[in-house]
Amino acid sequence: MKRNNLSSFYVSLWLLFTAAMLQAVESAKGKYAQMLFSELFEDYSNALRPVEDTDKVLNVTLQITLSQIKDMDERNQILTAYLWIRQSWYDAYLKWDKDKYDGLDSIRIPSNLVWRPDIVLYNKADDDFSEPVNTNVVLRYDGKITWDAPAITKSSCVVDVSYFPFDSQQCNLTFGSWTYNGNQVDIINSLDSGDLSDFVEDVEWEIHGMPAVKNVITYGCCSEPYPDVTFTLILKRKSSFYIFNLLLPCILISFLAPLGFYLPADSGEKVSLGVTVLLALTVFQLMVAEIMPPSENVPLIGKYYIATMTMITASTALTIIIMNVHHCGSEAKPVPQWARVVILDYMSKIFFVYDVGENCTSPRREKEQEYRLEGGDMCQGADRKNHLSSGNDDSDLKENLNGNLNKSFGVHGENVRENVNCRSCYKMLIKNIEYIANCVRDHKANRAKGIEWKKVAKVMDRFFMWIFFIMVFFMSVLVIGKAA
Ligand SMILES: *[C@@H]1O[C@H](CO)[C@@H](O)[C@H](O)[C@H]1NC(C)=O
Ligand SMILES: *[C@@H]1O[C@H](CO)[C@@H](O)[C@H](O)[C@H]1NC(C)=O
Repeated sequence: MKRNNLSSFYVSLWLLFTAAMLQAVESAKGKYAQMLFSELFEDYSNALRPVEDTDKVLNVTLQITLSQIKDMDERNQILTAYLWIRQSWYDAYLKWDKDKYDGLDSIRIPSNLVWRPDIVLYNKADDDFSEPVNTNVVLRYDGKITWDAPAITKSSCVVDVSYFPFDSQQCNLTFGSWTYNGNQVDIINSLDSGDLSDFVEDVEWEIHGMPAVKNVITYGCCSEPYPDVTFTLILKRKSSFYIFNLLLPCILISFLAPLGFYLPADSGEKVSLGVTVLLALTVFQLMVAEIMPPSENVPLIGKYYIATMTMITASTALTIIIMNVHHCGSEAKPVPQWARVVILDYMSKIFFVYDVGENCTSPRREKEQEYRLEGGDMCQGADRKNHLSSGNDDSDLKENLNGNLNKSFGVHGENVRENVNCRSCYKMLIKNIEYIANCVRDHKANRAKGIEWKKVAKVMDRFFMWIFFIMVFFMSVLVIGKAA
């Protein structure tokens, strides 16, 4: 027990001693760091490239970490991103023997004290050329300098909006030395892609990688090479915002347009519905036009708007024409034979138009035919003559009537006298009845004509409604299909 106590006492004593020793080392290190710093920078110039042999190249390793996409301005083609730029290189004049300085292997000093490569973003689109941020650099005993600097970059980016809002964009970030050529400062990408591990999820864009490529451009045959490292940021737009705010309303509105054909002609709203839909679409189109760059390739959604607007203009124009047909009325010419066959017989059955048509016209037409059959030869000829020559040629008519009367009553010997008497009074009677019948028939025919024209209009309405429904449907499917 006692022995145990004693050993624990020794252990704690030893621990105390080491702690004190360590503290001494720490404080000694601080002193050494001061010494190292003053010795290193005694005759150091941060203006000149730190190489021993000026013919030798200085390698700068570049690594980019994308932290955030702050803004993508399609209209001005500018990408604003928050980046961390890490550059590292070896400075030939900032080396030390770490044993001489009590194992001190690295120090952190303000970056403006050491030489820094003038690596800039070539495709910068910022209006102020600000100085690089004066963060610290880490200086290692073998001369390796690591410089991490945060930066908000505005870079120009060729934006292709042809598939908006289902587009992806590629934005290049090209870094290179501004003044040194490839024989003096060579730039090397440490990884073959930008680092995305610290990326803050963006609401509008999905990141699909950031590959890095080193390009060396030589102007002319024997001049110096100019190396650069290009990071290509591959972005895919999250389109749900645009689907809900721009596409779906337009699809819904455009489905209203064909329904204009279904509106009853007498409501007087057919044309105004078309015009209202057109105006609503114009508002949406203006909204899209405001975000898009005024480039030659019209975005997909713009094409959809234009197609829909064209279609609605066509449908409104057709509605106006059909309205005219509807109001043809009784004064118009009768429905031509081909239209009667094609529209009234076939198309009305295909498009199930019964209400105006079949209920009213068809029984009447049948009745008319029955009546004609009953009237037989008596009226048929007379009627037609009346229509053609408006009763100028009476003798023909009389002959016809006489013939008919003779036929119906027969001429048999003794009854001839009475028949002749009777004949004249019948003649009067028949003339009057004929006149009334003609009036009624004309009236009915006129009404039937009006109703027939109305039916033609209705069948055409139905026909175009389905045509336009199919067009709207296919256009919407086409636009949504592009999303997949
Ligand atoms: C620079 O990198 C190249 C390879 O890219 C290498 O051959 C060369 O030795 C390096 N120069 C120095 C000074 O490290
Ligand atoms: C972006 O950089 C890559 C690689 O250097 C190149 O192939 C591509 O053409 C560049 N794109 C633009 C728009 O400059």
